[in-house]
Amino acid sequence: MRTHFCGLVTEALVGETVTLCGWADVARNLGGVCFIDLRDHEGIVQVVANPDSPDVFAVAADVGYEYCLRVTGTVRARHSVNDKIATGKVEVIATNIEILNRADKLPFYSHENPGEDVRLKYRYLDLRSPTMQKNMRKRIALVQALRRHLDAAGFQDIETPILTKATPEGARDYLVPSRVHAGQFFALPQSPQLFKQLLMMAGMDRYYQIARCFRDEDLRADRQPEFTQLDMEFAFVTERDIQDYVETLIRDVFREVQGVDLANPFPRLTYAEAMRRFGSDKPDLRITLELVDVAELVKACEFKVFTDWANVPDGRVAALRLPGGSVLSRKQIDDNAAHAAKHGAKGLAWLKVEDLSKGREGVNSPIAKFLDDATLASLLKATDAQTGDLLFFGAGPWKSVSDFMGALRLKVAKDAGLVATGWAPLWVTDFPMFEYDEEEHRFVALHHPFTAPKVDDVADLSANARTAVSRGYDMVLNGNEIGGGSVRIHRSDMQSTVFDLLGISREEAQAKFGFLLEALRYGAPPHGGIAFGIDRIAALMAGTDSIRDVIAFPKTASAQCLLTSAPSAVPDKQLAELHVKVRDPG
Ligand code: AMO
Ligand code: AMP
Repeated sequence: MRTHFCGLVTEALVGETVTLCGWADVARNLGGVCFIDLRDHEGIVQVVANPDSPDVFAVAADVGYEYCLRVTGTVRARHSVNDKIATGKVEVIATNIEILNRADKLPFYSHENPGEDVRLKYRYLDLRSPTMQKNMRKRIALVQALRRHLDAAGFQDIETPILTKATPEGARDYLVPSRVHAGQFFALPQSPQLFKQLLMMAGMDRYYQIARCFRDEDLRADRQPEFTQLDMEFAFVTERDIQDYVETLIRDVFREVQGVDLANPFPRLTYAEAMRRFGSDKPDLRITLELVDVAELVKACEFKVFTDWANVPDGRVAALRLPGGSVLSRKQIDDNAAHAAKHGAKGLAWLKVEDLSKGREGVNSPIAKFLDDATLASLLKATDAQTGDLLFFGAGPWKSVSDFMGALRLKVAKDAGLVATGWAPLWVTDFPMFEYDEEEHRFVALHHPFTAPKVDDVADLSANARTAVSRGYDMVLNGNEIGGGSVRIHRSDMQSTVFDLLGISREEAQAKFGFLLEALRYGAPPHGGIAFGIDRIAALMAGTDSIRDVIAFPKTASAQCLLTSAPSAVPDKQLAELHVKVRDPG
């Protein structure tokens, strides 16, 4: 139907006849002449219809927004060059315009900044926009580059089941009722975790898969109910072998797809250090602000909130210095306190350093009256406070203070324009093996229950579960967890012990993971791996905050597809076949 793509009509084609297909991005009838910006997946070119070809002009005059067209014409150098588009030095003088399809008035036009709901309902129109075309291409280039490297390195691309048994990754399962086995259900995989481990036991050595994962969890900008991982597993490796390989992979792919050189090597932080300095296990290292522990300095002060937490082992009192922050208004400070409260803070103390040289007279703070001169001076020194700065203080349980001060650090840095441009990757290692769930009175796995502890000895792990460190690691980029993995448990006795510690009874472990426990008994090799969030990496590369912008047909924050209206009710007959009865259709 066509000889060239619209976006690729360049000066080299001047004088030639071309046939193009695409959509009328804009159609302007200026009376004497009609201009149509014809758009395809490669870009836009200007088409001109002159009244000296009356038939062509008549068709052009009839063209509306998003009409689907086939245009034949001669390429000509343009008088007024348009620097904004790649084809801006040329235009096509139409000798024939065929309307392939008319378009009704569209529900929205991309230049109108439509809301996301309408974009998602008419995703096929939204995807026509140059931005979305560019985003999708970025994602495709990313996946192509990853595959190219992994195929060349001898990784085996193996598909694992979608209709399967629960694979716990900390979310709820999506279930599929079985028609043949009444009352029984498949689960969609939260990840291919168990199958990739079984592949290592099956002698596949190195595996990868661009794998769809399904998790029924609370959604956010960086979470979708179905999303895509680059899933990898290696046999006969240590965590360092895995990290070194994938770090090089990510660096190579960023160079090829994004044209940037990431740090070599990536910085490394332990979980404890990341939480202490940045209040996050996925610190954004583009921000240089750091938390400062001040419990030692306020142990004996008169501010009860501080002393309460400075004198208990699992308490934390931390300060954050915002350079130049003393210009913040009371309202801005309150907004920051509200943000900290949203992340668990019971309060947020602050201190403006209006003139450092004046000591107590130079500070403005609701808590200054509780601090004696020596304490005040030591806090100013420990935080390296300067005239014009603002100090925030958080006190409370260690994890909670780390979390809300970490969230505050991100907000104040963003508000103050203190986020450097560029790319800040790092590894976070030495995660705790377990977190204690105070409500349920049991341990939960911080990564997943198949992650190996650093200790080899089951008795040692049982005795020291609260402080046990795992062989898990995350790759973080600009404050996003882009990948996570671990060395796995490859011994049945250790796997049983971890299930015990997680409060999974022997019967339950057998019912859910009996096949794994058994497989571990037939010579399972040491193995480990990692999975990267393709959507998150693509979003970072495309420069967007939401992974929805790099997924062709994403779901809304309430896990719906607005385009197809899924999920939806099904006929009673179908439910009956599946042996399913809906209790309360609502
Ligand atoms: P994890 O649960 O950390 O590990 O997932 C790996 C990576 O997948 C991405 N990710 C998501 N992306 C979009 N939406 C979601 N809901 C979502 N959840 C996770 C993140 C994350 O770093 N089986 C293990 C991997 C392993 O141990 O090898 C796993 O799934 O970028
Ligand atoms: P109060 O005396 O309770 O009004 O508190 C004085 C200041 O301490 C206020 O600015 C509170 O926001 C702050 N504050 C209260 N609880 C905490 C806490 N857990 N951490 C930090 N500051 C707090």
